[in-house]
Amino acid sequence: MIPSINPLVLNLKESATLSINMMVKRLRKEGKDVCHFGFGQAPFPVAGIIQEALRANAHHNTYLPTEGLPELREAVSHFYRKEFDLDFNPDDVFIGPGSKELIFQTSYLLEGSLLVPAPSWVSYGPQATIRGKRLYPIETSRDNAYKLTAIDLDRACHHMGQQQKMLILNNPNNPTGAVYREDELEEIAQICRAYKMIVISDEIYAMIDFTGRKHASLANHYPEGTIVSGGLSKSFAAGGYRLGVMLIPEELMSIKCALRSVISETFSAVSSPIQYAAVAAYSRFDEIRDEIQLNTDICRYASGYLHRRFLEMGLNCPEPAGAFYLFPDFENYAEKLRQKGILTGIKLTEDLLSSKGVAFLPGSDFYFPATNLGVRVAAVDFDGAAVRDAWPGADNMDEALNRRLFPRLVEGCDRLSDYLEALD
Ligand SMILES: Cc1ncc(COP(=O)(O)O)c(C=O)c1O
Repeated sequence: MIPSINPLVLNLKESATLSINMMVKRLRKEGKDVCHFGFGQAPFPVAGIIQEALRANAHHNTYLPTEGLPELREAVSHFYRKEFDLDFNPDDVFIGPGSKELIFQTSYLLEGSLLVPAPSWVSYGPQATIRGKRLYPIETSRDNAYKLTAIDLDRACHHMGQQQKMLILNNPNNPTGAVYREDELEEIAQICRAYKMIVISDEIYAMIDFTGRKHASLANHYPEGTIVSGGLSKSFAAGGYRLGVMLIPEELMSIKCALRSVISETFSAVSSPIQYAAVAAYSRFDEIRDEIQLNTDICRYASGYLHRRFLEMGLNCPEPAGAFYLFPDFENYAEKLRQKGILTGIKLTEDLLSSKGVAFLPGSDFYFPATNLGVRVAAVDFDGAAVRDAWPGADNMDEALNRRLFPRLVEGCDRLSDYLEALD
């Protein structure tokens, strides 16, 4: 029997990030020594108070309300007000099994096309495809750290005609590590307002910010049209808990009503014990603030180390300012790679994995053309608990400690450097 499949999902492949993770796990199981720069998972343990709350609430076995546990919605609203000056009431908060699902459902229920900066996170495009939405990637420039500008957004909207427009802006950014400033967001907000755009501001990395500035959210500049998403996966290091949050402003009441219905007809509600654990994360944040800041300091160091090494190798790479990622490109080696028969990012990443055991994702997974030689690097292949225990502070690190605390990052860079030297 050959079942006939919905044509909108027929050509969909497994998510690039999840599939490289599985491939690396398989290679490692076969005994291959892989430096894994392909998957962006928080490398730290979940904070003790969150784990304790999960254990203490294991007996909760009833379905919770569709939008989420009332105490959790209250805690999330309070947290976003206190930490980010964002004005959302508990009624504006929705809880889902990861922000990925909430972004999908919101995009699913909205008409119109989807705009994303290129490069952008791997899943926005396929999610739009599942819904039959047209995707408009807006190319950004390396010189501007791959950040969307108001001028480019305006130009893209201008070509789209009257249809409803939706934008997803991720800040801090996966795949580039870029962080937007308030003035940049204000300019983008003016264009969003002019086109009455609906924006999802994906702020899942909001607390992993190396700039020392207060986190800037588009919702502070365009509150009437900005939906904010976040959750436990990155800053709280609990991706496997699968708990995401979405904050939808009062002005977008029709989206709130539709989302409530879609949730009630799909996942019903997130697992009860996980929601109780999340109450601890959001309502007792002061107790884990220092721990989360330390995790961020370590991520900053790890990303900074890779950045320095990439520049030394002659790669182009904007300086990472947040999240777990860097986006170097191999354009300076384009001619030598061409002589080796490598003309696309996919070929390049395949060659690096098979010949050197170093895993990256190609720029084409992030809406760049196939010939783009940019790659996404996740800077988290280290044991966060061990690094935390031995952490002497960034100023006291030296090459020997780099090798001891971040062996896979150092080894991956050494292998990459060998690969590039052998091209000569
Ligand atoms: C930019 C971005 N948005 C959203 C997500 C989804 O996070 P979750 O579904 O775990 O909340 C991720 C996860 O990798 C991400 O990198």
